[in-house]
Amino acid sequence: MNDLHEMFEDAFTSLEAPFAFLDRTALDVNIDQILKRAGNKRIRVASKSVRSVPVLNHIFARSDQFQGIMSFAPEEALFLIEQGFDDILLGYPTVDEPAAQKLAETGKQVTFMVDHPAHGAMLERVGDRTGRIIRVCIDLDMSVKFPGVYFGVYRSPLKSGDAIRKLMNEIAPMRHLQVVGLMGYEAQIAGLGDRPDGTFDLKTAAIALLKKRSISIIRERRRKAVAALGEFTEVTLVNGGGTGSLESTRAEDDITEVTVGSGFYAPHLFDRYREFRHREAAGFALPVVRIPKKGMMTCMGGGYLASGSADALRLPKPWTPCNVQLVSEEGAGEVQTPVIIKGNSLGIGDNIYFRHAKAGELCERFNELHILDNFQYNGTKWKTYRGEGKCFL
Ligand SMILES: Cc1ncc(COP(=O)(O)O)c(C=O)c1O
Repeated sequence: MNDLHEMFEDAFTSLEAPFAFLDRTALDVNIDQILKRAGNKRIRVASKSVRSVPVLNHIFARSDQFQGIMSFAPEEALFLIEQGFDDILLGYPTVDEPAAQKLAETGKQVTFMVDHPAHGAMLERVGDRTGRIIRVCIDLDMSVKFPGVYFGVYRSPLKSGDAIRKLMNEIAPMRHLQVVGLMGYEAQIAGLGDRPDGTFDLKTAAIALLKKRSISIIRERRRKAVAALGEFTEVTLVNGGGTGSLESTRAEDDITEVTVGSGFYAPHLFDRYREFRHREAAGFALPVVRIPKKGMMTCMGGGYLASGSADALRLPKPWTPCNVQLVSEEGAGEVQTPVIIKGNSLGIGDNIYFRHAKAGELCERFNELHILDNFQYNGTKWKTYRGEGKCFL
C-alpha cells in the first residue's frame, strides 16, 4: 500500500470506520493560501461549506482578514449568533418570517438578501413589528447568456443597473429597511472547474473562453449596478465570488469583500481549477467488510453523494490507496460500496479513504470530524452541525 494510506491507518488505529476527519495541517495551509489569494479584500466565510462551529472558530482565529459569515438559512444564523458570531449576511432570500423576526430581535448585525419586492415587504413587516431597522443586501445575478449557452445559475432576476433602480424604487420607501449593498455570486467562475471532466479537450477550451468573456461582462455589470444603487443609498457592502473566483473577484475595485467556503476543506470538485490547488483537508474512512472476488472489495457505507446535477462527478472519490476505483454500475451505495482494487489488496477490517465532491455536505453525514495534526491523531474531535443536533436545510 502507499505511504499516505499507511500514515492514515497508523494515525487512526483507535477509530472504527466509518468516520470523517479533518487534516488540520492541510486546513491551515488552505487558510493561508486563501488569505493570499484574496489579496487585500476582507473574506466572508460561507458557513454552508464548513458546517462546524469549531472549524469556523479555527478559521477566524487565524486572521482578522476573515470578517463575517455568509449564512444559508435564518435558523442557522440564529444558531451562529448563539455561538457568539456576529456580522452575518444571509446569502439567500428567506420567506421564513418568524425566523427573520427572531433574528431581527437579536439586535445583532444581520443582513438579509433580497431580489424581489416581496422579500422587502416581508422584512418591512418584521421591522415594523420589532421596531428595528433591517439591513438589506440586493442580489445581482451574474449569469451570462452567450449564443446557445446560458453560463451561470438561476437565482436572482436582477441583471442590470436598471433592474436595481426598479427594485429600489419599490423598497427604498420602506421605512424599516436600510439597503447597505450588493452581492453578485459569479457561479460560472467560482463554482465551475476549468476541467470538469478532468481532461483537456474542446469542452475545456470552450469553458476557458466563456469564463474569460464572463469575467469582463461581470465586472462591468457589477460596476453599473453599484453606481445605480449609489443613486439611492450609501453602498458599504459589495460582496462577490467564491473559492473558484478569488483572483478575478478581488481584482474589481468595487468589491469590498469576497466569500470563501469550499477552499478550506478542498473537496474533489475543487481539484479542477487551473489557477490554484488547495490541499485535500477533509475525508472519510470506510471499512472493507467483504471481498466478493479477487480484485474487488466491498466497504460499509459510502453513499454520500453531493447535490447538483446528478452526474458521476457528484460521487465521492477514492483517495487512498490510490489503486482503488468505484464500480461505475454501482457508484457509492447506501450501505455497501464495492470498489475495484488493482495490484496490492487490503484485508477485511482495513480502511479505504475517500473525499466528498463538495465541502459542507460531508458534515451532514457525520457527527464529528476527527482532527489530524501532522498525521497524528490524539482523540481530538470537532462537532459538525449534525453532531450538535442541528439540521438547517
Ligand atoms: C451566494 C454564494 N456566495 C459564495 C459562495 C461560495 O462558496 P464556496 O467558496 O464554498 O464555493 C456560494 C456557494 O455556493 C454562494 O452560494
